[in-house]
Amino acid sequence: MPTQTTASKRNKTPKSKGIFITFEGGEGVGKSSLIQEVAKRLTQEKIAHIATGEPGGTPRGQELRRWLQASKWPSVAEFLLYSADRSLHVEEVIRPALAQGKWVLCDRFVDSSRVYQGQAGGLNRLFIEIVSTQCTGGIEPDLTFLLDCDLDVSMGRLVGREVLSHYDQAKRAFHEKVRSGFLALAALNSDRIVVLDSTAPIAELVTQVWDTIKERVNGK
Ligand code: TMP
Repeated sequence: MPTQTTASKRNKTPKSKGIFITFEGGEGVGKSSLIQEVAKRLTQEKIAHIATGEPGGTPRGQELRRWLQASKWPSVAEFLLYSADRSLHVEEVIRPALAQGKWVLCDRFVDSSRVYQGQAGGLNRLFIEIVSTQCTGGIEPDLTFLLDCDLDVSMGRLVGREVLSHYDQAKRAFHEKVRSGFLALAALNSDRIVVLDSTAPIAELVTQVWDTIKERVNGK
């Protein structure tokens, strides 16, 4: 069973002023393009923000990202590398930005570990939750956008990328598990996770993101 992260469990740490928004999904679903467009919208609205992502949101995290991509790791070691990256990212980038009142747009966060390492990779879920809580200090996204599309579309987008991670090269069955894992997580956390059809035109996706933010976050 995927893990539910209820609103009551979230953000138990002192309330930050900024808003934390994450973007999740399988490979090739177009997260980075959407984040760029949403960031442009925030600039137009004169909202202070940063766009960041995992793995590799800090200089040392970039090193970890290179390690992760260089070879196949045993699942526990791999998860702990993602977690080390996340811990640095929270302490050095995310928490300070939120404390300054900035909005944080983040490409992947704990949900990626829940799905890639947990749902698809078979790692113990309680272990993932305990380690992740330590790494994030309890910070959880206010809102998460899950970009979803048929695997033929997302895997087609991967063709032409210069560096394919070992996940890009993994079997289709793994990507199917990733997709269904994300959708199951979204169904259990519908108060936080909004599913978007990533095949929609980018302008339409930005409008959907913006409308959701106005509806769900502005009143917090
Ligand atoms: P991306 O930068 O293209 O999104 O790829 C990052 C890869 O890292 C992608 O295959 C998903 C994987 N990943 C995990 O398996 N667990 C995690 O916790 C994170 C953040 C990423």
